[in-house]
Amino acid sequence: MKILVTGGTGYIGSHTVVELLTEGHEVTILDNLSNSDERVVDRIEAITKVRPGFVNGDIRDKETLDRIFTDTAYDAVIHFAGLKAVGESVQKPLMYYENNIAGTLNLLKSMGENGCKNIIFSSSATVYGTPAFVPITEECPKGTCTNPYGWTKSMIEQIMTDLYISDNEWNVVLLRYFNPIGAHESGTIGENPNGIPNNLMPYVTQVAVGRLKELGVFGNDYNTHDGTGVRDYIHVVDLAIGHVKALSKLQAGSGLSIYNLGTGQGYSVLDIVKNFEEATGVKIPYVIKPRRPGDIDECYADPSKAEKELGWKAERGIREMCADSWRWQKNNPNGYDD
Ligand code: NAD
Ligand code: WQD
Repeated sequence: MKILVTGGTGYIGSHTVVELLTEGHEVTILDNLSNSDERVVDRIEAITKVRPGFVNGDIRDKETLDRIFTDTAYDAVIHFAGLKAVGESVQKPLMYYENNIAGTLNLLKSMGENGCKNIIFSSSATVYGTPAFVPITEECPKGTCTNPYGWTKSMIEQIMTDLYISDNEWNVVLLRYFNPIGAHESGTIGENPNGIPNNLMPYVTQVAVGRLKELGVFGNDYNTHDGTGVRDYIHVVDLAIGHVKALSKLQAGSGLSIYNLGTGQGYSVLDIVKNFEEATGVKIPYVIKPRRPGDIDECYADPSKAEKELGWKAERGIREMCADSWRWQKNNPNGYDD
C-alpha cells in the first residue's frame, strides 16, 4: 500500500516506518521536524535498505497537504504528528490545541477532498483519565483528562468518530497506546527528548549514561504493590507492528474501530529500575520525591481485543525493552547530535 506517515521522523513514527518498509509498503513521511531530526531518514534507510519519501512540512499548512494528496493517491494515512509534552501543554494550551486539533482538521479535510478516507490515529491511554477499572478494556468509559495534551487526544477521537458517522466511506482506527519504551534492536533510532526528559525511561537511560545524576521517583505511597506508580510499558517495535496489523483492518473496510495497544502487564517505577539494572548491569541511583500532579496509581491494558481482531500481541518483555532503550542511549548519548 502507499502510506503517508505524518510525524514519521518521530520516536514511534520512525519505528513504524521501518516495519512498513520491511513489509513492502511504500512510505512517505510528512514531518515539520519540530521534535525530530531529518537524519532519522538516513537511519531508516540504513536499517531497511529502502529510503522513504520525506516532505519537510506542517499539517497546519493545507496547501502542502493538498499538494501531497494530489501528487500521489495514498491508500492510507498513519497520523502521528502532534505535540506530546504533558507539562508544556498545561503552560501553552493554545499551542497544543492549534497544532494537534487544527492540524488534524486540516489533514482530514485534505484527505476527504482528495478521496483518501483511511486513517490510523495515535491516541493514548490518557483518554481514560483515572480509569474506571483495570485492566482497561476499550469499553472502559473515557474520563476527565488532567491536561490539554490529553484533551487533544480525546477530542480528536471524537472528531474522527463524528466524521465516520457522517460518511461511512471513512475507515478509522483509533489506537490507544499505553507507555512506549525501547528502541530498534540496531540501536540506531530511538526516543530523543528535548531538554530534561519528562517520561520515566528516557530519564533512567540519561542517568545511566551520566547526563543526569539520579532518578526522582514520584511518590511511594500509591495503592500498588510497592507504593510506586504502575504502568503498562510496551516495546516501541511491538507498537509499530500493531500499526501494520491495523492497516490490514483498514484495507478490509473496517469502519470505525478502537484498540488498546499494551502488554496487559503492569510494572511499577521500582520494577523498572530493578529490571533496567538487571538487563544492563548499570546501577540507577534514585531518591523518592513527592507525587507528580495528575499522576494515577495504576494504568494497564486488557489488550485482548487487538489480539482477537488484529492478530496482534506484544511479544517483547520488559528486559528486552530495557536493554534496547539502553543500547540506543549508550550508542547515541546525545541523540542524533553525535
Ligand atoms: P514525537 O514527538 O517523537 O513524534 C511526533 C512527530 O510529529 C515529531 O517528529 C514532530 O516533529 C512531528 N510534528 C509535530 N507537530 C507537527 C506538525 N504540526 N506538522 C508536522 N509534523 C509535526 O512523539 P512520539 O512519541 O513518536 O508520538 C507520536 C504520536 O503518538 C503523537 O501523536 C503522540 O501524542 C502519540 N502518543 C505518544 C505516546 C508516548 O508516550 N510517546 C503515548 C501515546 C500517544
Ligand atoms: C511513568 C511512571 C511517574 C518520570 C505519559 C503521558 C501519557 C502518555 C505516556 C502520551 C509514573 C513515574 C516518571 C520520573 C517517575 N503519553 N516517573 N520519575 O505519566 O504514565 O504517561 O506518557 O500520550 O499521556 O501522561 O508516563 O513515563 O511520565 O511516567 O517516578 O522522572 O513513572 O510518576 O508513575 P505516564 P511517564
